[in-house]
Amino acid sequence: MTQAVQTLRWVDGALEMIDQRVLPARFDYVRYTSAAEVAQGIRLMVVRGAPAIGCAAAYGVALEAMALLNGGREAFVNGLERAFEVLAASRPTAVNLFWALQRMRAIWQVNQHRAQGEIAAILLAQAHEISAEDVRINRAMGAHGAALLADGARVLTHCNAGALATAGHGTALGVIRSAVEAGKRISVIADETRPFLQGARLTAWEMVQEGIPVTLITDNMAGHLMRCGEIDAVIVGTDRVAANGDVANKIGTYMVAVLAQRHGIPFYVACPLSTIDLTLAHGDAIPIEERAADEVTGFRDCQWAAKGVQVRNPAFDVTPAELVTALITEKGVVRQPDKKNVAGLFST
Ligand code: MRU
Repeated sequence: MTQAVQTLRWVDGALEMIDQRVLPARFDYVRYTSAAEVAQGIRLMVVRGAPAIGCAAAYGVALEAMALLNGGREAFVNGLERAFEVLAASRPTAVNLFWALQRMRAIWQVNQHRAQGEIAAILLAQAHEISAEDVRINRAMGAHGAALLADGARVLTHCNAGALATAGHGTALGVIRSAVEAGKRISVIADETRPFLQGARLTAWEMVQEGIPVTLITDNMAGHLMRCGEIDAVIVGTDRVAANGDVANKIGTYMVAVLAQRHGIPFYVACPLSTIDLTLAHGDAIPIEERAADEVTGFRDCQWAAKGVQVRNPAFDVTPAELVTALITEKGVVRQPDKKNVAGLFST
């Protein structure tokens, strides 16, 4: 299966990532050779989306190990430790970042006795594996989730949980892609997703590239379309799911979930197991990133709000589990998620 969009790629000893700040006006790759650079790329949202951030962080660790090859052992060990720290501090909400770093740390610990060159090669192989595994997981989720969508379904999605948010195929958009591959006629309604416009700029672009029918709306139109009977299902991705099934996702998701319940529309969350955080009992414990005010007061060079106005810019919100019809995971579909059935995903 060919991949339409390669969000991250390894080229001549460096990580290249599509610059998601400038899509769709420009399609550029940015090149990264150190952990600090990758952390900056994550912070600035050159790369974004929970699984893609995890993959980028894993490559960040491998890049740092490669950059430290020619120093002594102490410099290598200290430098790697700093790499883990700087990457972990890049963005707080998506747990995939910490999950991927934990995986890289475990590999580093098991192989500490080896020569530095060998360790760097092993870390790079692990970063490649995390990315390859992400695509396999997204395809498995796609297969499970596609069965939930009827032929002809009009599916609303919020933010971008597509190929651009992952190593390929996507989570929420992966379900849609898999349903289309299975021969279903699916059309997508994309919320524009203020303030960073992931829906307008990224989801719409991905769907247009592949010829999947897509209609763009502003975020405040979703309720009207639901009331008019124009939406059959909602599918979103997630950045972190708590042990009780509460779902953190892009700001505005909660509003969509409330509306979906009001109108009896199923609200599905595509959720790889790497996005579930069993250490947090409920969604209130999920750290919510606050981003810069200028994302709300304007976009790029155009500032439309009055100078000096106070701004709030929480980048994510939490949807209580009771509003979630089902989590779509690589292990199958979990209806009405709660503490018991979420824990069950990890028991076999
Ligand atoms: O701020 P972003 O663009 O990183 O937020 C992304 C989202 O909220 C996605 O819906 C989520 O990461 C799932 S991506 C498969």
